[in-house]
Amino acid sequence: MKNKGYTKIIQMTDLHLCEDKTRISFDINTFDSAKKMIEHIHENEVDCDLIIISGDISDDESDNSYSHLTEIVSPIEIPFYLMPGNHDSVEKIREFSRHKNLNSKLYLEEDPWFIFMFNTKKDGSPNGYLKNDEIEIFKKILDENKEKYFMIFLHHHPVKIGSPSMDKMVIENAELLLDAISNTESVRGVSWGHVHNVYETQINNARLFSTPSTCYQSKPKSKTFIIDENEKPGYRVIKLFDSGELESQVIRLA
Ligand SMILES: [Fe+2]
Repeated sequence: MKNKGYTKIIQMTDLHLCEDKTRISFDINTFDSAKKMIEHIHENEVDCDLIIISGDISDDESDNSYSHLTEIVSPIEIPFYLMPGNHDSVEKIREFSRHKNLNSKLYLEEDPWFIFMFNTKKDGSPNGYLKNDEIEIFKKILDENKEKYFMIFLHHHPVKIGSPSMDKMVIENAELLLDAISNTESVRGVSWGHVHNVYETQINNARLFSTPSTCYQSKPKSKTFIIDENEKPGYRVIKLFDSGELESQVIRLA
């Protein structure tokens, strides 16, 4: 797949596709916004190896909302990896992942990197929660591959971001992951969605950051969920170099 010295991942998140594709949420048509972004990525990110959609693909768990995604991605050859968010149906994501270039799995190996995509959806709650079985698999692979590097994707944030309404939904048992990051040199990056804005911090060797939504944006560090009129829809480019270096930037669409 590569031979260029790095794996290039595009992270898109929080598409909030609805049953009705003409629906406007917070002054934006979420279907049109996601479609425009995927077309932009297809035209401009020519060396992209894979696209990860880190949850809230749907806003309402409807079959139609997931069909809208398959419609948007159908003309594109790049493999997509789908993750659930609090607005998604885990079962429907599994079902729709059988479509042509759609996939859903806990991890993939892009030697010398392991890329993990945890399911942080907690049933009956908007909060984040890590699953013990997924964390056990992660810890085992981490332990057995000390010379490799790890990139982690989540839907929910693993650390508080200074926004009270969002921080109520932080991953409740995030210490399972944060302790592992503190105790190893191998985890180099952690990225999430859900918060609809950009936050960055660092723990040990790992850079931690969030990715803006493909549709409406929220004001960072606000007490309640307030739409940020000044920010545009965006995605994140992450390059995982064979040396273990990680490069990342957020691209906003005009
Ligand atoms: Fe979310």
